[in-house]
Amino acid sequence: MKRLENKIVFITGGNSGIGKASALEAAKEGATIVIADLSTADYSETLNEIEALGAKCMFVPIDVADVESVKNAITKTVKEYGRLDIALNNAGIAGTPSGIHNMPEETWNKIIAINLTGQFYCVKYELQQFLKQGGGVIVNMASLGGLIAEPGLVPYTAAKHGVLGITKNIAVQYGNENIRANAICPYYVETPMISAAPDEAQKAWIEGTPMKRLCKPEEVAKAFIYLASEESSYCNDTHLILDGGVLA
Ligand SMILES: NC(=O)c1ccc[n+]([C@@H]2O[C@H](COP(=O)([O-])OP(=O)(O)OC[C@H]3O[C@@H](n4cnc5c(N)ncnc54)[C@H](O)[C@@H]3O)[C@@H](O)[C@H]2O)c1
Repeated sequence: MKRLENKIVFITGGNSGIGKASALEAAKEGATIVIADLSTADYSETLNEIEALGAKCMFVPIDVADVESVKNAITKTVKEYGRLDIALNNAGIAGTPSGIHNMPEETWNKIIAINLTGQFYCVKYELQQFLKQGGGVIVNMASLGGLIAEPGLVPYTAAKHGVLGITKNIAVQYGNENIRANAICPYYVETPMISAAPDEAQKAWIEGTPMKRLCKPEEVAKAFIYLASEESSYCNDTHLILDGGVLA
């Protein structure tokens, strides 16, 4: 039996990087996939790859910073497939690093709107559906930046700490409603998000990691499958750290 057989899996930011790798891994595990990403996303390749694995899938446009768009995306998912079993709240942006003393307010507002408020909007409407149907599983994409700080990243650090706060709240409020919420905390992962970073920065991240390499999106996808599946049935507010030993 595959681990996500017949599960309806909704993935924000599912058209790239970690979200796409998770979608493909979930498809291999028997799930039906909803790729929720910006309306500007060129999603045909992602859907083709998922279909090639024999899984059902669809694309729904979403801007997680826009509450109406979040509601519509979840409504469309439930209209098409009748329910929503697993949500990976993964959409996020990095932003240009800057000291706090000269961090542009627009940068702060944008990162908080997408990476934190966007997570709240998603979990709010996912939980409404889970309560109606009698349960569900939430996996929130945090970051090692949800546990530690790096200079220059104050809005990202604040947002990802907040994502862990949201996850905790779900765990304590809905644990007796057949709803579990957990989070993944990766250090740097080889995705388009970090590919534009200067070579010296990439070298420093690798050098600072005991395993001397970055994380691969497929490795985060495996963590997602664990937290999404019954294998993690007693995990509630687990923060699964994938950092190659950095915290050690
Ligand atoms: N790459 C890393 O090093 C790393 C490390 C730790 C955590 N993360 C987190 O993982 C998640 C995915 O990042 P990634 O590295 O795969 O990045 P990515 O840039 O490859 O993918 C991000 C996806 O989110 C989508 N997105 C952006 N803004 C959106 C919005 N407002 N509404 C809906 N979708 C939106 C993008 O279109 C894209 O498909 C993010 O939350 C990120 O913070 C990444």
